[in-house]
Amino acid sequence: MKHLIDPMDLDEKDLDFILRRAQDIMAHPEQYAEKCKGKKIATLFYEPSTRTRLSFEAAMLELGGSVLGFASASSSSVAKGESVEDTVRVVGCFADIIAMRHMNEGAPMLASMYSPVPIINAGDGGHNHPTQTLTDLLTILSEKGRLDQFTIGLCGDLKFGRTVHSLIKALSRYKGIKFVLISPEELRVPEYIISDVLQPAGLEYEEVTSLEESMPKLDILYMTRVQRERFFNEADYVRLKDTYILDTKKMELAREDMIILHPLPRVNEIASSVDQDPRALYFKQVLYGKYVRESLILYLLGL
Ligand code: CP
Repeated sequence: MKHLIDPMDLDEKDLDFILRRAQDIMAHPEQYAEKCKGKKIATLFYEPSTRTRLSFEAAMLELGGSVLGFASASSSSVAKGESVEDTVRVVGCFADIIAMRHMNEGAPMLASMYSPVPIINAGDGGHNHPTQTLTDLLTILSEKGRLDQFTIGLCGDLKFGRTVHSLIKALSRYKGIKFVLISPEELRVPEYIISDVLQPAGLEYEEVTSLEESMPKLDILYMTRVQRERFFNEADYVRLKDTYILDTKKMELAREDMIILHPLPRVNEIASSVDQDPRALYFKQVLYGKYVRESLILYLLGL
């Protein structure tokens, strides 16, 4: 039985298969409309979500399957003190596959040790978000035609941003990727990302604070939100939250073919006036997320 807990759980061959199949689902959705007939996905979300939970549910429905689950811990027996281990043992009696988001790093990994069905990590604390990474990779592959030989700027909260950590890990396997890590000093990527991921892979990277100075060299700009829920101190959040605001003036510094991605939700970091720019792909990215989750469900169910 396979689970998806960390982006590196998928080797390059399996990753390529999932991405190419997602593209085939986009092109021929009717051929997949009954693939999961009789199958059920449970979405167990202990933390808030709009895109991830609903895209898993939409994905399973489009494959002809059914959905069940909870959208907050308070509406389940977790509120009575039930453990993650017991919850997945129980839900595994009802569902064929489980997507779990949890505020505690490592909770989906723990769940995978007890679950009778495949577990998908739908985001664990500030750690990993592998299905957002699949979404990002499918967007890049479909829009740029390749997953190598580009310069990507990751901007905002690189310390707590699980989408950033997962994306850097996944991209570290491709050739010719240069990372420009744009953040305030306090929100730089965790040291393990440098020492365990970027340096061993011999990847080119720079840590900078200026978005404006970085713009002209980027093929991809990956904006992120400063996440209020990860701060211990409200004053620090207020001080840092508007460090980077991408607006139409800054977009004048970007290449004509640079694309803007964002895992969403957005707060202030991209002005709404940028949404009209053809390089702004963050809403299209959401749609890619549904297709790649369809492909992932099929892969994990062996269908
Ligand atoms: N990108 C993402 O994880 O969004 P949600 O928090 O809305 O699921």
